Amino acid sequence: MNQTVRVGLMGLGTVGTGVVRIIQGHQQDLQNQTGLSIEVRRILVQDTDKERSISIEKELITTDAMELVASPDIDVVVEVIGGIHPAKEFILQALENGKHIVTANKDLMALHGAEILKKAQEKSCDVFYEASVAGGIPILRALVEGFSSDRITKMMGIVNGTTNFIMTKMSQEGADYAEVLKEAQELGYAEADPTADVEGHDAARKMAILSTLGFHVDMRLEDVDSRGISRVSAEDISYAKKLGYEIKLLGIAKRDDNLIEVSVQPTLIHKSHPLASVNGVFNAVYVYGEAVGETMFYGPGAGELPTATAVVSDLVTVVKNMKLGVNGRGSVAPYQEKYLKTDEQIVSKYFLRLIVDDKRGVLAQITRILAEHDVSLEQVIQQPYRGGREAEIIMVTHQATRRNIVNVEKELDKLDSVLQVKSLYRVEGGEEE
Ligand code: NAP
Ligand code: HSE
Repeated sequence: MNQTVRVGLMGLGTVGTGVVRIIQGHQQDLQNQTGLSIEVRRILVQDTDKERSISIEKELITTDAMELVASPDIDVVVEVIGGIHPAKEFILQALENGKHIVTANKDLMALHGAEILKKAQEKSCDVFYEASVAGGIPILRALVEGFSSDRITKMMGIVNGTTNFIMTKMSQEGADYAEVLKEAQELGYAEADPTADVEGHDAARKMAILSTLGFHVDMRLEDVDSRGISRVSAEDISYAKKLGYEIKLLGIAKRDDNLIEVSVQPTLIHKSHPLASVNGVFNAVYVYGEAVGETMFYGPGAGELPTATAVVSDLVTVVKNMKLGVNGRGSVAPYQEKYLKTDEQIVSKYFLRLIVDDKRGVLAQITRILAEHDVSLEQVIQQPYRGGREAEIIMVTHQATRRNIVNVEKELDKLDSVLQVKSLYRVEGGEEE
């Protein structure tokens, strides 16, 4: 066997640059662990004239993707260009040519992971994608290996750093969403078009990957019910705090017997829950296993070196598999049937904020509607709104089905005395689980 593992690196942006730094900087450790040296033989970029923050031999740089994926001189392709096309075509062609793949691409793996993994199996190739969820946190390996003897029933994740930065700032400084989003863009956390982050699409992709691996089902992106943070107000956060909660963009994946729900939504999380104190751009994934109980994985969800460590650790696994001659044999395809919960089967506590006429009998009308839909209250705050002719009512319910709470919202909306249903959020943590 060749004593050098030859890498074709696709992309030399944030993550690609980190990959080169780690391979160069940790070369001896990598060799000690694998017995082989790892060498970057080609680097695919778009713009060969771009200034790079690391010095790279000019002859390594190429714009010819098809030459890279076909080269007999390459054993492993590391894809860190991002996006669906042409990354998907590059990866499929590389697999066709018998190259192992390491990728950080959550968009691609959430949408086309099944097709890529099938191709990899046909060609006895490895495909690893640790960096695609929660950047530097080794959560996928923990799910696949660490929890292999357990049965995971719940995963909750703060898996998007941009939105967690925004929610943390809004909570700590009482600032408005638009103001903090602008700051996040100036700091380079949020992109010029922040839609994928703030509308929950990025987190939904990560939750599809987590629940596929954690629950052994073929979870598709369209199975993940997602809502973002763009309508969360400073007032919502302030009331949540008064009631003992923080609001986070939370990915929630639950399994009850064989019924599964996966969602991403702004959620009140009780201050006693470890996820409530995950702040700034940090990520965390809380995993509950029937046997082990509660665990939590915390760390940087993005950034050059954190993300690159995950990529290079995957590379190390590929190299170890090459030495053992077991590439393509380690991955376990989803083996459980997927049964998604209906709205009658999704049960949770909820937070409701209403603006109402401050008149006699209004609270009675509201509680009647709640009772008719089998929803009972755990906490209520009422206070004057806009000078006193109107009132604001803030409620946290006991456990209710999603169907009932949605019907409550519809009925409340129809009441003349309810001027606006301002917000409705799911509630997690606290005593009643
Ligand atoms: P990036 O900074 O935008 O870098 C992308 C690189 O790919 C650039 O070097 C670019 O070339 C090259 N590239 C893009 N399209 C190409 C094409 N069609 N042909 C050839 N080269 C192409 O992206 P990144 O932040 O490193 O992210 C890479 C991947 O990692 C994405 O899938 C992302 O979701 C994932 N990820 C990133 C982070 C993070 O912290 N950034 C964290 C977790 C996962 P030029 O340099 O010539 O423009
Ligand atoms: N946009 C992502 C985030 C980057 O904010 O977490 C890491 O996937």
